[in-house]
Amino acid sequence: MALSLKNKLVLITGASSGIGEATAKLCDQLGARLILIARREDKLKALANSLQNECLPIKLDVRNREEVENTVKSLAKEWQSIDVLINNAGLSKGLNRLHEAPIDDWEAMIDTNIKGLLYLSKAIIPGMVERQKGHIVNLGSIAGHQTYPGGNVYCATKAAVKSISEAMKIDLLGTNIRVTSIDPGMVETEFSQIRFDGDKERASKVYEGLKPLTGEDIADAIVYSITRPEHVNIQDMIIFPTAQASATLSFRNNKKAH
Ligand SMILES: NC(=O)c1ccc[n+]([C@@H]2O[C@H](COP(=O)([O-])OP(=O)(O)OC[C@H]3O[C@@H](n4cnc5c(N)ncnc54)[C@H](OP(=O)(O)O)[C@@H]3O)[C@@H](O)[C@H]2O)c1
Repeated sequence: MALSLKNKLVLITGASSGIGEATAKLCDQLGARLILIARREDKLKALANSLQNECLPIKLDVRNREEVENTVKSLAKEWQSIDVLINNAGLSKGLNRLHEAPIDDWEAMIDTNIKGLLYLSKAIIPGMVERQKGHIVNLGSIAGHQTYPGGNVYCATKAAVKSISEAMKIDLLGTNIRVTSIDPGMVETEFSQIRFDGDKERASKVYEGLKPLTGEDIADAIVYSITRPEHVNIQDMIIFPTAQASATLSFRNNKKAH
């Protein structure tokens, strides 16, 4: 039987947009209490106001190790026992060839997608181990399984997330804590706009001529994973739009396109 999310405490990073926002809404509908993390406080507050259950929006940059540690340490007692950690905050910057890319883009991706995920995990998993319960969901990507042209460092960060998820499962074996990696293909969110520095026209071309996944599709997969019975661990879920076969092959405007 599916587990209930009623009164479960779920922390979502990157909750101000896309997959994180959709996951927050779905978890709220199912009765969860939420800690919502992102840098854009206005977006978090607007989301928090639209939810039915108790929720705690926190403005936090996951790249800031000290801020992450202090935020988790200073949570009020009723917000400390986190049942589900959803490490979703992440981004891609550019599609340049490795030798031509700005190093700042690499730093942003490595600091957010790898180090931010590790900082949150290090701050929260010890409490889960103490309580002998919890679930960690990491947002990987098909980019962690297949390297595509211009993907270089973004793909490397998601390959790191794949390894970190596998390592967490190994290191937490013997506890009741579950670890899931959710690895989508194309999802239409703010992701491509961020990748192309706000160029909406270039971003919309990514999804042209096909029906991409939505944040809600991925939220559905996350909620499926966290509501399985306690002895069931969904280890890794690769999710493509029907019109995408690999990181580089899709079906657009009724023809195959690389
Ligand atoms: N869209 C896709 O095609 C796709 C495919 C595979 C995997 N993914 C992964 O899915 C995750 C969510 O992406 P999305 O598609 O939902 O993109 P999105 O709409 O751009 O959302 C990204 C979220 O991450 C937050 N974020 C970024 N940097 C942050 C930081 N330093 N500290 C705190 N929060 C930060 C953003 O909030 P603020 O800007 O307010 O901080 C935003 O809420 C990412 O890990 C991404 O790599 C996406």
